[in-house]
Amino acid sequence: MRALDVKGFIGLEEAIELIRSEFEGRPDELIPMLQRVQNAIGYLPEEALLEIARATRLPAARIFGVVTFYAQFRLRPVGKYIIRVCRGTACHVSGSALILQDIQNHLQVAPGQTTKDGLFTLETVACFGSCALAPVVVVNDSVYGLMDSLKTRKLIEEIREKHGAIVARAGVEKGDRNGLRIFEG
Ligand code: FES
Repeated sequence: MRALDVKGFIGLEEAIELIRSEFEGRPDELIPMLQRVQNAIGYLPEEALLEIARATRLPAARIFGVVTFYAQFRLRPVGKYIIRVCRGTACHVSGSALILQDIQNHLQVAPGQTTKDGLFTLETVACFGSCALAPVVVVNDSVYGLMDSLKTRKLIEEIREKHGAIVARAGVEKGDRNGLRIFEG
């Protein structure tokens, strides 16, 4: 049984095991390794990068160079739910600045930051390519079009409630009423 944290990610040691068991350590596996670890942990901690450097026999500076070059990679933890507010032109003229400001006030975070409970990370994006639906807000892989501040706030609270229910249910089912750890079978 694999232990997941409250956000659904595995721990660093397990991620290092993944690197060892799923990859041969060839230098051309660098990007897939980084993606695998990030998907498993949620970001790329320094220890994981050093392990990847050891596994691939590539200089650590090269690994850090790749990670900082590609926008897809994160060096800091993110929330379980990444809220992306489109700040492209179509969304801007449809009120995305107000939505963004309202989310910032509601969650008490600025773009690039994660809420204290680790649940939400707020980001902005230049354009999602769904301009007909402006203003657009994306939560993880789900796209929400024609949004306004009220709808966005409701969406956030719905997510918070659903997440709380999932954690509570998992805790009760697995005998951990604190809900701090979720176990997948
Ligand atoms: S400007 Fe927002 S989706 Fe294109």
